[in-house]
Amino acid sequence: MDVRVAVLASGTGSNLQALLDDPTVGPAIALVVSDRPKAVALERARAREVNAVALTPAGYESREAFDRGLLDVLEEAGIDVVMLAGYMLILGPVVVRAFPDRMLNIHPSLLPAFPGAHPVRDALAWGARVTGVTVHLVDEEVDHGPIVLQEAVAIEPGDDEDSLYRRIQEIEHRIYPRAARLLGEGRLKVEGRRVHVLGEEGR
Ligand code: GAR
Repeated sequence: MDVRVAVLASGTGSNLQALLDDPTVGPAIALVVSDRPKAVALERARAREVNAVALTPAGYESREAFDRGLLDVLEEAGIDVVMLAGYMLILGPVVVRAFPDRMLNIHPSLLPAFPGAHPVRDALAWGARVTGVTVHLVDEEVDHGPIVLQEAVAIEPGDDEDSLYRRIQEIEHRIYPRAARLLGEGRLKVEGRRVHVLGEEGR
């Protein structure tokens, strides 16, 4: 895959790990950025000798200055594709606009159902029978951009947040590397809200 990928992660970074472990995507990851200096995600990057940078809004005089600082870091590293993997800050327009149709996010629900910070808990509390995983392109609204991949997960009667989230994460770790490959190989064609996967009939 002939692109340079940055992964932005705030937490554990299990999705980052799945991306690092993918034989096609892993070697393309040139940079990992976290807003939390102690994020496990940064350790996972360093363990693979991938450049790992902590960048916190507290280090800047405003959110706009932080966004510009983040964009500088991405541009200096020659990044083509940005993947949000549990990155819990909302990116400002200056960053989002710099990567049109080249920034992905993964979210543990079938968007537009259950956006926000607690999608697994919210799906259970709502009594939903089905939830899942969404990979989407990032636009200037939160949990909103065109959908690239989705996969459903049935909610079983005995599920709690942990058991349901375990099944959701298994799917995340499988489909996020796939989405990265599709984007990195130029196989996504965006038409309004529709994303066509080139080479797949009927999409
Ligand atoms: C993932 O489940 C991802 O879908 C979610 O954060 C988790 C990060 O896990 N993202 C969102 O909720 C974005 N709105 P990880 O650190 O183990 O990859």
